[in-house]
Amino acid sequence: DLSGLDLRAEIERLRKERNAVILAHYYQKPELQDLADFVGDSLELSRKAAETDADVIAFCGVKFMADTAKILSPDKIVVLPDMEAGCSLEDSCPPEKFKAFREAHPDHIALTYINCSTEVKALSDIIVTSSSAETILQQIPLDQKIIFGPDRHLGGYLSRKFNREMLLWPGVCIVHEAFSETELVKLKAQHPAAPIAAHPECPPHIVDHADYVGSTSGILQYAKTMEGDTLIVATEPHIIHQMQLALPEKTFIGAPGADGNCNCNICPYMALNTMEKLYLALRDLTPRIEIDEPLRLAAKKSLDAMLDMAA
Ligand code: 13P
Ligand code: SF4
Repeated sequence: DLSGLDLRAEIERLRKERNAVILAHYYQKPELQDLADFVGDSLELSRKAAETDADVIAFCGVKFMADTAKILSPDKIVVLPDMEAGCSLEDSCPPEKFKAFREAHPDHIALTYINCSTEVKALSDIIVTSSSAETILQQIPLDQKIIFGPDRHLGGYLSRKFNREMLLWPGVCIVHEAFSETELVKLKAQHPAAPIAAHPECPPHIVDHADYVGSTSGILQYAKTMEGDTLIVATEPHIIHQMQLALPEKTFIGAPGADGNCNCNICPYMALNTMEKLYLALRDLTPRIEIDEPLRLAAKKSLDAMLDMAA
């Protein structure tokens, strides 16, 4: 029973005792973002995990992110507060099916979104995140054929933006898929001066309304540089916590789902992590990420390609 514990103080104590670094994604609960050593997007969190000299990485995010930390920092203990914190994109792309798809298109390289399993990373040539995808795609020769997976919306967005055909894997993020165009148009009518910032995991009928399209860090940066005082945010609404911390005088409105509010767009996987589970993970050093060495080395190749090519 943890009810009598001052979880924040206990986590502080364990962080020191374990020489742990706490990394959190922008989609985590505010209390987890607030005690993290670093909050960032997928690319920034990968870089932090690769660079840290801590003994333990406590990853407040989803499993593919903690896996990435372990792939890049194999000597560290990597704990994920809840091992069930998956991702619909990862689920959409079973390695055997992805392997067969690759084999059916041997003249294509696989440019793969980081939201996938370690096995799929091992079957890929270059990994991208939403903040590095554009820079990386522009470095690939125009005559090189490309398979892009598992997010068909990010792939479709890149395809349209760079006028470049790619074979798209049919995965989607259930969170970004849930925004309603009808409700977004209604909201925009109520705030005609407010720009819309959207994550490229959103379907085209949402992205087409956006004044800015980019990763979580990109959207946060846009909020800091935009002129107006109100922003409509079409990504997982927990990022609004960082926006309000940085820009307390501005107003941020989460883009709505079909019910007219933004609560249906909370990522159910990210939401599995809690203060209690983080405390237990630091206390017991479990649930722990373990990856077989041959698989890790194979997956590291495509991640290293990303880290080299990302600006
Ligand atoms: P970024 O933080 O890289 O924009 O990724 C968003 C996301 O959906 C992570 O699961
Ligand atoms: Fe996966 Fe979407 Fe959740 Fe990100 S927000 S972890 S892409 S389901």
